[in-house]
Amino acid sequence: MTLMELGHQVTMLRQQFPSLSRLHRGQPVAYLDGPAGTQVPQRVIDAISDYLSHRNANHGGLFATSRESDAMLDEAHRAAVDLLGAGDSDCVYFGPNMTTLTFALSRALARTWKPGDEIVVTRLDHDANVTPWVLAAKDADATVQYVDFHRQDCTLDMDDLRSKLSDRTRLVAVGCASNSTGNINPVREICAAAHQVGALAFLDAVHFAPHALIDIAEFGCDFLACSAYKFFGPHIGIMWGRRELLENLTPYKLRPATNELPGKWMTGTQNHECIAGVLAAIDYLADLGRDVVSDQTLDRRSALSASYKAVGDYERSLVARLLAGLEANSEVKVWGITDPERFAERLPTVSITHRRLRPIEIAERLDQKGIFVWHGNYYALQITETLGLEPDGMVRIGLVHYNTEDEIDRLLLALNAL
Ligand SMILES: Cc1ncc(COP(=O)(O)O)c(C=O)c1O
Repeated sequence: MTLMELGHQVTMLRQQFPSLSRLHRGQPVAYLDGPAGTQVPQRVIDAISDYLSHRNANHGGLFATSRESDAMLDEAHRAAVDLLGAGDSDCVYFGPNMTTLTFALSRALARTWKPGDEIVVTRLDHDANVTPWVLAAKDADATVQYVDFHRQDCTLDMDDLRSKLSDRTRLVAVGCASNSTGNINPVREICAAAHQVGALAFLDAVHFAPHALIDIAEFGCDFLACSAYKFFGPHIGIMWGRRELLENLTPYKLRPATNELPGKWMTGTQNHECIAGVLAAIDYLADLGRDVVSDQTLDRRSALSASYKAVGDYERSLVARLLAGLEANSEVKVWGITDPERFAERLPTVSITHRRLRPIEIAERLDQKGIFVWHGNYYALQITETLGLEPDGMVRIGLVHYNTEDEIDRLLLALNAL
């Protein structure tokens, strides 16, 4: 499919997202805030409403609504493994959000750590993949090692990472991609390095999930977390763990709750309506893939693979246009990879600072033009601290596949006019 055909596809698929037709101050809204949460297609809204209207019930009852609800939950687990490339639907579980799921997992893992053990985190990560491990390490009297990043392009310093690994390392926690600078980490290499010293590898795929195909089998991780509200679904988190680990670890759980997977890890009553929404979001992405390759018979995983291939191609064309435009603005500095030769190493998430204006001023002024961007540190606190950009942080322009060239041009014009 050519880029022009993809552009046409985007015009069509935008019609599925009701919020994209919103006007603000008389202008169409350009949602460039995707990394903080994407908009949702109508089918996700319908799935949530349909669940509450017709199948609303608790889990495990012997009556019609509960059986139907459980069938939907089973299907959502299968859809989630298709999204993650994980195979075993018992090993995926849902929870309020990635942060809460990670805190819970960190407490279970910390029970296996002892004084002198080491945990490796990075200065590139969202704090949800740092502080849960730091606090768990503190409880276990374990030590935390921080992996640095290269100042020039904000990529992870792999030499530093290797130097932090030893036979004392119990866990390496790394993001698949930075929610601040958009760069993609070499996760396969990182997981292999962790395993080489006998450590476990935890991946935060929250920022990666709307842009590229997650492939647990290929990554070789032991745990992986993501959040559906970042990939066109509702506000709910998803965690995957290796079966033997999920079976052998002891989570904090209630006595009557099951010890079977995946229920063992899902505390309390789940947000069934949002899980119905996750299923619809994954099927939205799969149908996009089927449309792109004009093959309605593709199984869900293959369809997701086709979808992400098209999404990636389209988003790279968008980010190329954005970065070229930003480069032409002498008052703007881009933090992260800007070399077009290296676009395969980054996602379409771009953080900038301005020579004269504070990020908060830029975000406010863009809002007046109907352009929604984020400002501050977006919880990727170590990056802004390390770069000396606190307390103001940066401005984040986050593109996803429903964004358009026209929106980028509007943004560039607005930035030039500041
Ligand atoms: C990279 C990354 N990790 C983790 C999180 C936390 O996700 P949640 O809001 O689901 O806890 C975010 C949220 O912005 C994120 O961007």
